[in-house]
Amino acid sequence: MFNLRRYFLLDPSVTYLNHGSFGATPRPVLRAYQDWQRQLERQPVEFLGRRFRDLMSAARAALGDYLGTAADNLVYTTNVTESLNIVARSLDLGPGDEVLSTDHEYGALDRTWRFLSKERRFKYINQPISFTTETTENAEKNKKQRTKISVDSANSVVNSFSIQHFVDELWKGVTPRTRVIFLSHITSPTALLFPVEAVIRRARRAGIITVIDGAHAPGQIPLRLDDLDADFYGGNLHKWLCAPKGAGFLYARPEAQHLLKPLVVSWGYEAEIPGPSQFVDHHEWTGTRDIAAFLSVPAAIEFQQEHDWENVRRACRALAHEAQEQICALTQRPPISGFENGGTTGGSGLQMVAAPLPDSVDLAALKARLYDEYRIEVPLIAWNGRKLIRVSVQGYNTRQDVGKLVQALEELQSAA
Ligand SMILES: Cc1ncc(COP(=O)(O)O)c(C=O)c1O
Repeated sequence: MFNLRRYFLLDPSVTYLNHGSFGATPRPVLRAYQDWQRQLERQPVEFLGRRFRDLMSAARAALGDYLGTAADNLVYTTNVTESLNIVARSLDLGPGDEVLSTDHEYGALDRTWRFLSKERRFKYINQPISFTTETTENAEKNKKQRTKISVDSANSVVNSFSIQHFVDELWKGVTPRTRVIFLSHITSPTALLFPVEAVIRRARRAGIITVIDGAHAPGQIPLRLDDLDADFYGGNLHKWLCAPKGAGFLYARPEAQHLLKPLVVSWGYEAEIPGPSQFVDHHEWTGTRDIAAFLSVPAAIEFQQEHDWENVRRACRALAHEAQEQICALTQRPPISGFENGGTTGGSGLQMVAAPLPDSVDLAALKARLYDEYRIEVPLIAWNGRKLIRVSVQGYNTRQDVGKLVQALEELQSAA
């Protein structure tokens, strides 16, 4: 693959196949981060007092260019959990209202919505979305279909047949009381790309607000926020963009910005010197904090551009797909491949893939053995009564890393 391992501080004794959880930051980006912290400490009043607004506005402009939107439609947050808490807590939901989601969502955000649904007495619904695990007979046919999967727009790597299937399954949960649809762009437990674009379009026509959890999207798939046109989109930059921890963002489309209330009310509310955007004023200054992670996002964007990340991503996707196929061959379980007929990308389109493990596996024991005996960091996930392994492949990984995992699984399987 690429000789990129040297850029990362990752412990060489660990086979790290879990970029999806917290990302990892390359040395030049970490240096930029620490340089910002040093600048702050040299003259805190100059930095946080006089320069804050210009520094943040430049960092938002760079992110806006990268994500296809204007700087003033974005604010930096510490992480996507914060971004989506701002949205969920702002919306005027109450008894009789419904928030529709899926059964593939990230636990922390499910909890956010459940907490609010109890407090404000609306309904939070996790609509089941099935994914197919291919039968052996279908596998060959589906493999052919998967090769047809193409990047049909900057935002999705899907085929239209599976989009319809997804939207139909989701829409079974829509009622006249549905006020909000909340969806992951790429799911955490099942590593699937959801066709959010089609959902957003249909929801807009139905007058339903869309809130997208883009924790895994920026840096992993092409993302143009204005084209996508969600009402609200939260993302992490410390995952696949490899920015330092503590760099997330919240996008709100201009027509929806007025719906948001600051989670932390500070000087930007009733601002003495208002900036060009009230949305930015309300959310950007939340009190004294370290803004170095935000300011290093342009360095993270540059790092990937300088290292031809399009190619890195392509190679990572191919290796992730190989990992999925090898694990499935070993466990004799069909791959998780999105929707009907191997539809949205399992395997071929993402740097993160999930594969089913046998029901008899003790996840905690297997995880401990993988780490303690083989020094392999990889998440094992219990999801909806199924057992899954999720493999992430980033530029620092090699075919040997995947080989080690497959060999360890093989040894542990034959010892069981
Ligand atoms: C789909 C999804 N949403 C949200 C999050 C939460 O990210 P954070 O803890 O950085 O807010 C994660 C983290 O892995 C995730 O996978």
